[in-house]
Amino acid sequence: MKKIICKNEAEIAEISAAMIAEQIFIKRESVIGLATGSTPEGLYRKLGEMCKNGDLDFSGVRTFNLDEYYPIKKSSDQSYDYFMWDRLFSHINIERENVHIPNGECADPAEECIAYEQKIASAGGIDIQVLGIGVNGHIGFNEPEAELKMDTHLTGLTPSTIEANSRFFSSVGEVPTKALTMGMGTIMKARSIIMLITGEHKAAITEKIFSGVVTTDVPASFLNLHPNVTVLLDEAAAAKLK
Ligand code: PGA
Repeated sequence: MKKIICKNEAEIAEISAAMIAEQIFIKRESVIGLATGSTPEGLYRKLGEMCKNGDLDFSGVRTFNLDEYYPIKKSSDQSYDYFMWDRLFSHINIERENVHIPNGECADPAEECIAYEQKIASAGGIDIQVLGIGVNGHIGFNEPEAELKMDTHLTGLTPSTIEANSRFFSSVGEVPTKALTMGMGTIMKARSIIMLITGEHKAAITEKIFSGVVTTDVPASFLNLHPNVTVLLDEAAAAKLK
């Protein structure tokens, strides 16, 4: 994994936006995998600005989000659907039918997951995938477990993830306990990956992913096996790296 240590979040946003822009310049109809969470918010602001200034054109771009709570109403302001429209899609010229987010309102999660994989495959696979990382090492909602799943699936959230995400809800009891998520295989099949990591609270997990060990206890450690991963991190997240 290539790592770029940045001065601050603004620099991470600049560089990651430039990487996405380059991908779109090379291929107008790029397929981009997107993540939610606090970390990519700067990137999404920057992409919105670039689009507004006429420097970036999303009219051919197709997107696939990593995950969504289950069950959840799209209109709920805690849904990842809501987050993505609020932070990014409303600010860029993307076609609504080119946006894909696992459907937290679906009646049959197993069917939804199969259909999601098929949609990614028929789009030609993901060209560039944006990832954050959980303090427990999860990517998407692939939580630390003895076995990790390959394909998009319904999963339970670990207490540490529920706790971390409770900051967006009025109480911890309101955080959904399940989610639909791309699997490890779905993520690893992306042709390139950008992982964004910021903050002191991510320093310990950052140290683990660069420790030279691959383990299902740290799902993000599998990215070491991918040929084209760039990790953009701030100095606080990089503090424990040698
Ligand atoms: P965060 O979430 O960007 O809000 O820290 C990352 C994640 O849990 O994957």
